[in-house]
Amino acid sequence: MNKLLKGLVFIVFFTILLSGCKQKAGQNNNSLQHQKSYRIPHLKKQGETTQLMVDENPFLILGGELGNSSFTSLEYMEPIWPKLKKMNLNTVLAPVYWELVEPVEGKFDFELLDQLVGKARSHDLRLVLLWFASWKNSMSSHAPSWVKKNQERFPRIKDDKGNSHEILTPFSNNNLQADLKAFQALIKHIKEFDGTEHTVIMIQVENEIGMLPTARDYSQLANNEFRGNVPLDLIQYLINNKDDLVPEFKQIWAVNGYKDSGTWEEIFGKGLHTDEIFMAWYYSKYANAIAEAGKVIYPLPIFVNAALIRPGRKPGSGYPSAGPLPHLMDVWKAGGPAIDFLSPDLYFPNLKHWCDLYTRQENPLFIPEHRFDNTVAAKAAYTIGHYEGIGFAPFSVEDAGDPENEPLGKMYNIINQLTPIITDHHGKAKIEGVLFNKENQESIFQLGNYEFTLRHIYTLGYEPNSGNEAWDMAGAIIVQTGEEEFYIAGSGIVATFKNLKNPMLNVGILKTDEGRFENNQWKVIRHLNGDQTHQGRHIRIFLNNYSIIRFELYNYE
Ligand code: DGJ
Repeated sequence: MNKLLKGLVFIVFFTILLSGCKQKAGQNNNSLQHQKSYRIPHLKKQGETTQLMVDENPFLILGGELGNSSFTSLEYMEPIWPKLKKMNLNTVLAPVYWELVEPVEGKFDFELLDQLVGKARSHDLRLVLLWFASWKNSMSSHAPSWVKKNQERFPRIKDDKGNSHEILTPFSNNNLQADLKAFQALIKHIKEFDGTEHTVIMIQVENEIGMLPTARDYSQLANNEFRGNVPLDLIQYLINNKDDLVPEFKQIWAVNGYKDSGTWEEIFGKGLHTDEIFMAWYYSKYANAIAEAGKVIYPLPIFVNAALIRPGRKPGSGYPSAGPLPHLMDVWKAGGPAIDFLSPDLYFPNLKHWCDLYTRQENPLFIPEHRFDNTVAAKAAYTIGHYEGIGFAPFSVEDAGDPENEPLGKMYNIINQLTPIITDHHGKAKIEGVLFNKENQESIFQLGNYEFTLRHIYTLGYEPNSGNEAWDMAGAIIVQTGEEEFYIAGSGIVATFKNLKNPMLNVGILKTDEGRFENNQWKVIRHLNGDQTHQGRHIRIFLNNYSIIRFELYNYE
């Protein structure tokens, strides 16, 4: 009996002990889960598409860049945050100004930045920070006063007449080291302040780098390099990538017979184009050194942006020479291996032209600036659909007068809902985008077994009044999610279909629903048929009706 009692006590004690241990293990699991630390935001390939991964999920930047001086005070930003939320932005592109973070050499002040990052966090917004340091639109206006006032230590460029301008020369190691040290302090701070939260998801180094008013720098330091031989690392890059160089650059190298040693003018010939190549090499090396120094500390994705060329203008006198421009892609890639991609700032109307150039050599497409005009909603869809781009951001986005009714916000809302579907299908030839106006009314493409013909909705005769008005831009994203199943999202389009596998068969529309995603679950708002599908003949979305349609096709004889 005594033995039995002892045994019972032992079993009870053991069971309590075990359940205590289990509980502890559970707590540990919970706290582990709570503290789950995700990898730093990074780029990842899926097929040929480059995805931006944020907290282990592919992230599409539905962004907007702030005007240059907005991010300089909490008070100024206060009314802007709610505007950005109303436009359904998930990311803000905002400058960090060298002059404000290092007002005295070696003494850094990140208090304002921390407060602003905190604000972004509280509004559930991510940040792409723009490092306005040595150069902002060619100029060095954001250099701190201790740099500006010490020209001897921090030399400037000279034009061909020997005049200096407020532009730090990329040929000075003092300039580079001063910028680089400040950038490292910034990145170290971001790592400490944001290493687990990941509010900051990417960095742009400098802003619209490019030489003015001449195609190259004529300072003593620059002239010395110009007289010297083309560095071997550039030559080696050109040799290794000869078959893949962009044609307009390869053509220049071909003229003198693909020379692999000599001065800049011996290899590329005399002229402004050579001055530009020369500058591009030294600008890219400088930006690369900064990017590399930051990545050693905390390897966020890093990119550079370019002011594009006005047609017919010459480098230096007509546009900022030697920036990360399409015809200089090879030089920038050779000089900037730590720079993840080159981006266009689009203030010209022809988005397709520039994006086709920027997506060569698998350069991922991110548009950090686009003029904030009435085309941006459609162009955001096209960038993310056709190019499977990382994201889009109109410039000075806080200028929206009526953010709640801003077309961009309506487009961002539907792209946001579709993001998991879009990113799941990245790099698999399952996504397309269209962009229409009066000059480009139609697009024909293939998804699976089907040929899609998409047209501007006005081609159906819904054109306003006399037909002479400019057609509002229409844009949409189409994703194939099953053999016969598709989603289409956007504004101002009509779609019809053909069977490519068996052209003898007719294609019918089996089922069409308009809906939305709530917590990633598809919810039907309306079953569309009758007049809304022209009695089963097409799928359409009117202009300014930003909606998502899921549809299934079938075939009949
Ligand atoms: C392009 C620059 O990158 C921006 O910072 C801003 O200056 C705009 N131009 C102004 O239009």
